[in-house]
Amino acid sequence: MKRVLVLNGPNLGRLGTREPEIYGTASLADLTNLLTADAPDWHIDVRQSDSEPELMGWLHEATDAKTPVIINPAAFTHYSYALRDAVAMLSGAGIPVIEVHISNPHAREEFRRDSVISPVATGVIAGFGFESYRLALRYLITLDN
Ligand code: DQA
Repeated sequence: MKRVLVLNGPNLGRLGTREPEIYGTASLADLTNLLTADAPDWHIDVRQSDSEPELMGWLHEATDAKTPVIINPAAFTHYSYALRDAVAMLSGAGIPVIEVHISNPHAREEFRRDSVISPVATGVIAGFGFESYRLALRYLITLDN
């Protein structure tokens, strides 16, 4: 079975109740259901952590297993060089890693306009709510066909 790791950074475990005017009212469980319905023959492994080392461990795991990754690094997007280096190992090994955001960070506060992850990601999709993740998955499915 084809696999994809869908990694979510800090505070995204609160989706559903966190600033619903920005992030909507759906939860990570809803996201898992959506993605699973989109790709029933894929193993969609949705994970969330508030911890930088845990996210890095998962990126290392994906690098070793050559598993494509969809990642919403959340606030780590804007300052985590450690996460960036882990993403660079994946993309550098030719494994697709797609950065996604629910909101459009460019249309928000100034500090959100910079992503230290984007330069080493395979691609970036932002601003479409959960559709950002679905579009990223669609790309991986297209690559596979
Ligand atoms: C986010 C945007 C980030 O700036 C923010 O820190 C998040 C969520 C998004 O999905 O829109 O936590 O990554």
